[in-house]
Amino acid sequence: MAYPQLLQPLALRSLAARNRLWLPPMCMYSVTAEDGVVTDWHVVHYGSRAQGGFGTIIVEASAVTPEGRLSPNDLGLWDDAQVAGHRRIVEAIHAGGALAGVQLGHGGRKAGTPPWRPAVEGARSGTLPGWNLVAPSAAAYPEHATPRALTTTEIADTVQAFADAARRAVAAGYDVIELHGAHGYLIHQFLSPLSNTRTDAYGGSAEGRRRFALETAQAVREAIGEEKVLDIRLSATDWAEGGLTGDDTAELARQLVAVGVDVLHVSTGGNVPAKVPVGPGYQVPFAGQVKHAVAGMTTPGGGQPQVVAVGLIDSGLQAEQILVAGLADAVATGRGALRDPYLPVRWAHELGVNDWQAAHLPVQYWRGAWR
Ligand code: FNR
Repeated sequence: MAYPQLLQPLALRSLAARNRLWLPPMCMYSVTAEDGVVTDWHVVHYGSRAQGGFGTIIVEASAVTPEGRLSPNDLGLWDDAQVAGHRRIVEAIHAGGALAGVQLGHGGRKAGTPPWRPAVEGARSGTLPGWNLVAPSAAAYPEHATPRALTTTEIADTVQAFADAARRAVAAGYDVIELHGAHGYLIHQFLSPLSNTRTDAYGGSAEGRRRFALETAQAVREAIGEEKVLDIRLSATDWAEGGLTGDDTAELARQLVAVGVDVLHVSTGGNVPAKVPVGPGYQVPFAGQVKHAVAGMTTPGGGQPQVVAVGLIDSGLQAEQILVAGLADAVATGRGALRDPYLPVRWAHELGVNDWQAAHLPVQYWRGAWR
């Protein structure tokens, strides 16, 4: 039988994911990772979702410097001592048959501000005490502390921190390295005129604002070599007057592919408070725009750039429709998979696939009958 596109393999450089369903990065900071170190909990969490049938799993934002963490309980890759724990996650993901990726992040002016802290501790949002924030410009995110603007030397150090963390990710065995260029964190802060008012080479024009993202992507590509897959998550639009637009992101995507990015993972928002028209698949048109922009480009690795769509994609039929319409090459589904690690099996059933081999699961998982 011809499988739906969702269950067809996805070529990524010399690798192939078994299907086109991704688990997007989701910080689990309500579970303690002290000093950025992986715990048994993370190994089981990610291993379960690989066993559940995802094709590619991106492990949550792991900080490239301690001050870049969003909370004291974030995972990290700023220290060689953190590699062994990540290796355990990679082994668990591979044992479940998925490709393993990790997101490398730096919170910039939004560091030290875990989103669920109010829920956990009954406090309002705001920066954790003792967190020294850095950003492109000394402009605060509302209700957060004012950051210090990075010097050009510090910018070079931060590019190096991303490259060093990427080298550690490779040492841990990850197949995909994803840069967090979305949701108002450091790379996005540089990209957007709403958070970057620098007048030096890292600001002042679209070209200047893109410099940090492009230098980081280039340094990370050099650090990880030719075999590994380089992915970047972008917020295609700021959803705000004077902010980034889909057109800006389409142009940036082309420039990123030219310096060695293989995958564009298209999200939106997060840099400034904004009214977002949230609804089913509301970010998908931006993925489509990026896909259109990079169509026909060849990555330096010789493949086609791949685009991942994400955001309220909550059924197999909806996912398949996005792929069939040519709006993306793969789809990611996050919150649904927190509630149900076996979501890929459900979606395969929805698409009429009753073949455990297609889902890459033990036949015992698949059978409905008791005997
Ligand atoms: C997220 N998201 C997120 N995004 C990201 O780029 N890095 C991250 O570490 C996190 N962390 C995170 C934690 C939790 C608990 C949630 C729910 C979300 C965003 C996530 O990857 C995804 O883009 C959104 O959840 C939208 O997709 P769904 O959930 O509608 O499929």
